[in-house]
Amino acid sequence: MKHSYFKIPGWFNYSETYDIIVDQIKDDGKIVEIGSFLGRSTHYLATSLFNANKTNVKIYSVDTFEGSSEHATLKLPKDFSSTFKNNLEFFIEKGMVTVCQGRSDSEEILNQFKDESVDYIMVDGAHEYEPVIDDIENWWPKLKVDGVMFGDDYSLPSVSEAVQSTLSKSNIKGLGVNMSHEQTWYSGKTLEKLKIFEKLVPGQNTLKKN
Ligand SMILES: C[S@@+](CC[C@H](N)C(=O)[O-])C[C@H]1O[C@@H](n2cnc3c(N)ncnc32)[C@H](O)[C@@H]1O
Repeated sequence: MKHSYFKIPGWFNYSETYDIIVDQIKDDGKIVEIGSFLGRSTHYLATSLFNANKTNVKIYSVDTFEGSSEHATLKLPKDFSSTFKNNLEFFIEKGMVTVCQGRSDSEEILNQFKDESVDYIMVDGAHEYEPVIDDIENWWPKLKVDGVMFGDDYSLPSVSEAVQSTLSKSNIKGLGVNMSHEQTWYSGKTLEKLKIFEKLVPGQNTLKKN
């Protein structure tokens, strides 16, 4: 299936990270994407999994579908939730994508995931300091022991400060930062898994061990 994610408006610059996730994940894996917006990133991920014959992987899209403060001035469809569902219809019907509509800190959504049950979590929701801290703290326990958490927009001071202050307190084995066009950070509970993501963009992707 040819990629068509680029027809969906949005903010998605971490395709190389998603390529490695697709390569690494087993066919019964789980991925949580916090901040799916109209589905640009989700569509890329689902198409790539489909093309890799990993159609049993479950992607959970957690979003209020209300947009963030930075979207207020943009011309966008009014109903983000319906637009997302239309854009992802093929993958939703296949059971590959599940919509979790609501705030990423809602008990109702968090309770749908057992501790240590998720392989990969992408944090791309609200980018302000406190919400990034909340996302990391609320979702870290959901990560499997060999899982990896990622986040976008590390170049924003609100994001990098939140990541550094939160992760220094948890049981992490390292913090990687990919300062190429991706601007992603990644962290996890075992160093071996993190090293796989370090090989992306040598020189601009640095992994500091704890
Ligand atoms: C930067 S956009 C995500 C971009 C998306 N990955 C793409 O490919 O276009 C951030 C998204 O986070 C959502 N969001 C903001 N705060 C949230 C929160 N507290 N809980 C859940 N979603 C939130 C917004 O509705 C918005 O769709």
